[in-house]
Formats: sequence, C-alpha cells, structure tokens
Amino acid sequence: MLYGAGEEMDIKTAVFPVAGFGTRMLPATKAIPKEMITLINKPLIQYAVEEVIDAGIERIIFITGRTKKALEDHFDINVELNQQLESAGKTDLLYDMKRISEMVDIIYVRQKYMLGLGNAICCVQDIVKNEPFAVILPDDIILSKTPVTKQLIECYNKVERPVVSLMPVAKNETSKYGIVEIKEQVDTRLSRLKDMVEKPASNPPSNMAIIGRYILTSEVLSALSKIDKGAGGELQLTDALKYTAKYYDVYGYEFEGKRFDCGTKQGLLEATINFAYADNLLAETLKDTVASLNL
Ligand code: UTP
Repeated sequence: MLYGAGEEMDIKTAVFPVAGFGTRMLPATKAIPKEMITLINKPLIQYAVEEVIDAGIERIIFITGRTKKALEDHFDINVELNQQLESAGKTDLLYDMKRISEMVDIIYVRQKYMLGLGNAICCVQDIVKNEPFAVILPDDIILSKTPVTKQLIECYNKVERPVVSLMPVAKNETSKYGIVEIKEQVDTRLSRLKDMVEKPASNPPSNMAIIGRYILTSEVLSALSKIDKGAGGELQLTDALKYTAKYYDVYGYEFEGKRFDCGTKQGLLEATINFAYADNLLAETLKDTVASLNL
C-alpha cells in the first residue's frame, strides 16, 4: 500500500501539461497552444477534458505557459455569447456552451521556463501532495470505446503503482518515443516494466512506446527532483519513471483504442479523417469527398 490508513487513493485529479511551444505545428501555435487546435469542431483539449470526466476525474490542473489565455477563455463562461444564443433560440448550442464551462474544476499553474515535460509535472507537487494523479498529453487523441484514462485507472486500482499507457510502434519509429523494456507480462495487456529509455537513437529495448496517458504517484514526483536533464536537454518524465522502476514496481498497459499524434500535421489529418468517419453526419461527406478525388 502506498498510503496510510484512511487516506484517499482514488484518482480524482488529472494534470494536463500544456506549456510546450508546439513548434511542429507552427504557425498555428504562434499565438495559441497546440491544444486549442481544432479537430472537427472542438479544440483538442476538449476531447481530452471530456475523456477524463468520463473516467471520473473531478479536478483538472493545467500547466500552462505564455499562451494560457485561449485555454482559460475556452473553459470560462462567455456571458455575452450565452445571451446571444438564448435570444436567438439556439438552445442546443447554449446547452453545449454552458456544459463546457461547468464541466469540471480547473486550476491553472504556470511553468516558468520550458524545461521539459518532467519539469512541467514538478509544478504540481504542492497541489497533489501524496495523491496519485493522471497525466494527459492532450495532443495524443485516442478513439476508444472506454476512455484510456479510465482503462489506466482500472489498472492502477489493481496494482496501486504508477501505470503508463503503451502502444506498439514500427521499429524505425522507436526513436520518437519513450520505449519500455518489459520485465514480466502480468496479463494480456498489463506488464511490469524493467526499464525505459527516452527517444533511443539505437538498440531500442522493445517496440512498445509510452503514449501520453499516465497514472503517477508521489514516488515519481520525488524521482523528478533527483534526476538530471535528459534527451534534448530537458527534464524527462521517462527518466523519472526509469529511476522509480529501480526501486518500485512500475506498470505498462497496452490500451485499447486508436491513437493519433495531433501535434503533427500527419496525425491531425489522420485524426480528422477517422473522427469524421466515426460521425454519422460527416461519414457521407467524407466518402463523397474521397470518391471525388479519384485516388
Ligand atoms: P512535446 O514534446 O510534444 O513538445 O511536449 P511541444 O513543445 O508541445 O511540441 P513540439 O515538439 O515543439 O512540436 C509533450 C507535452 O509536454 C508539454 C507539452 O505542452 C505537451 O503537452 N510540455 C513540454 C510542457 O508542458 N512543458 C515543457 O517544458 C515541455
């Protein structure tokens, strides 16, 4: 057990590090965070927020940088817009707008310097204290029956240790991800991890990549304060998990779902096509458009 008698262990907090520069999506990300980029008709961040709410999360912490205003405005009440929708009788839209601002409690924390994902996570130490929490990288959008955050929480409830989401990738893609070495397969999807390496230039320990959904514990936070800068000169979350795995069990879970890296043009295009295909109204438009291209 990680906690003392009577201490709350349920995962109720989700941390969204959204302070990165998003250089791969410039110029779209010059004035807004990449999480505000639109997929069909919602910003990426809203898909991720809806995912964690469906997983039972009650409190969200956004770790933001210089472009936090757009995020704040998106989840804030827009009184004038609501009045306009009400007087125009657009009740469905009004309901949607109210739902966004009433979704969940959001705390905003500023990451002073862009020193990497690991450094961003350190910024929540004083808020989460000893509580385990979910971490969501909202540019990883996942189409799944069960929200991936919920899949990970269910694993955490069994093992009460950190759990990272895993996905097999092509061997020539491993240098783009944190890659794990599996110690023991616990069941079809859950494994105990031996080691992990961030963006291996050669000899990846496997083809299982860490994707942007995690359940972390206080051990990982304390590991972040002990490790040095890693790949790209940044404080890497993967390095903190590697450190933690030396002393405690760390688990990986091969999630059910299809993941899209919406922090890249290709990934956003793939996501757009897949989400359109999954939408009754848009599927016809998609089919007609593709047919008209005579590919
Ligand atoms: P990425 O590696 O995707 O970096 O960060 P980035 O800056 O967002 O995008 P590129 O590579 O320049 O295109 C992974 C996650 O960590 C957050 C990002 O916002 C993203 O959700 N992050 C990264 C921070 O919050 N702070 C940092 O210092 C770095």
